[in-house]
Amino acid sequence: MNMEKLPMLPPKKNLETIKVLKQLSKANKSLAELKGFSDTIPNKHILINAVMINEAKDSSEIENIITTHDDLYKALSNSSSTSAEAKEVVNYRSALWRGFELLKSNEMLTTNMIVEIQSIVENNLSGIRKLPGTVLRNERTGKTIYTPPNGESEIRSLLGNLEKYMNEDSNDIDPLIKLAVIHYQFESIHPFYDGNGRTGRILNILYLVLMGLLDSPILYLSKYIIRNKSEYYRLFQDVRVNENFEDWIVYILKGVEETAVEALDLVKRINSEMGIITKEIKEKLPKIYSKELIDLLFYEFYTKITYIEKGLSITRKTASSYLSMLEKEGFLVSEKLGKERIYQNKRLYDLIKYDK
Ligand SMILES: Nc1ncnc2c1ncn2[C@@H]1O[C@H](COP(=O)(O)OP(=O)(O)O)[C@@H](O)[C@H]1O
Ligand SMILES: [Mg+2]
Repeated sequence: MNMEKLPMLPPKKNLETIKVLKQLSKANKSLAELKGFSDTIPNKHILINAVMINEAKDSSEIENIITTHDDLYKALSNSSSTSAEAKEVVNYRSALWRGFELLKSNEMLTTNMIVEIQSIVENNLSGIRKLPGTVLRNERTGKTIYTPPNGESEIRSLLGNLEKYMNEDSNDIDPLIKLAVIHYQFESIHPFYDGNGRTGRILNILYLVLMGLLDSPILYLSKYIIRNKSEYYRLFQDVRVNENFEDWIVYILKGVEETAVEALDLVKRINSEMGIITKEIKEKLPKIYSKELIDLLFYEFYTKITYIEKGLSITRKTASSYLSMLEKEGFLVSEKLGKERIYQNKRLYDLIKYDK
């Protein structure tokens, strides 16, 4: 058991070792490419919403909340037949959007925002831990590996210190290095009874946006963490016990590099599919074509009559005829789920589902 107090930030150690700096330039390069490309997409928020469900799925999977795309499809399109797991994944995406919205209006990351994000992830208002007893255990052996700080005032003062570290405008240390430190520190504070892993991973994305490395929440580390899961847990402890920040930072920087390349690839593929479908709809269904219609078809991997009706401000009857035409031409596949007919954009769905 570890009884030492969690130190405040910044770490006393020199973090900018040669190994770190080498990996840092690779990570910055692929991140800049991702940002550069996504800056050129006019409707990137549309595109991101659908992609984000994968981060929500993966980040939840790290916590053993396992779902499939088919579950998520059902949960998103028809809330009555939803598994608890799929609901949590959908909450995660809402929390990420909410965090992004708060960040845009506050232009900083605060404890209150973190508390709100966690309440959406967990769908409860228990807030910062007040009672002792939370410990991190080895999943296999059940042995306690770490006891996070206890007491609301102690936790709040650590969060206050983290808040300062996240928002301060000092140019002496690269934000991607700080990202690794922030994730370590947040998880070590472990401010909540549950939901710390997922909230911390949302915080990672928001921090990149805060620092201007991305302008929308489009880089997702969870996929990388799943692929390198035992390292993730091992390195937390290695920082704690041996102050080995170097390997932890390199681990996170590699994750940034790999997932930026993957995100760029996926965004490019969806963007080009959007281009193809636009062209096809213009040719085959010129009367119903509009940019707004395309956006609605790509906002989520399915749509419904009400979405088209509201989104295009047309009557229900017209919306329904649009969708029938789109289905007839093979752009959508419909299915009755519960009381409603759901129209799946199969090409988008497949791009997202098979993105591994
Ligand atoms: N040894 C450790 N030190 C600090 N944080 C850890 C350690 N091991 C795991 N974690 C973090 O704790 C998270 C799990 O905490 P938890 O509150 O259960 O999150 P969630 O509910 O999102 O499942 C992991 O995803 C990881 O980020
Ligand atoms: Mg948990």
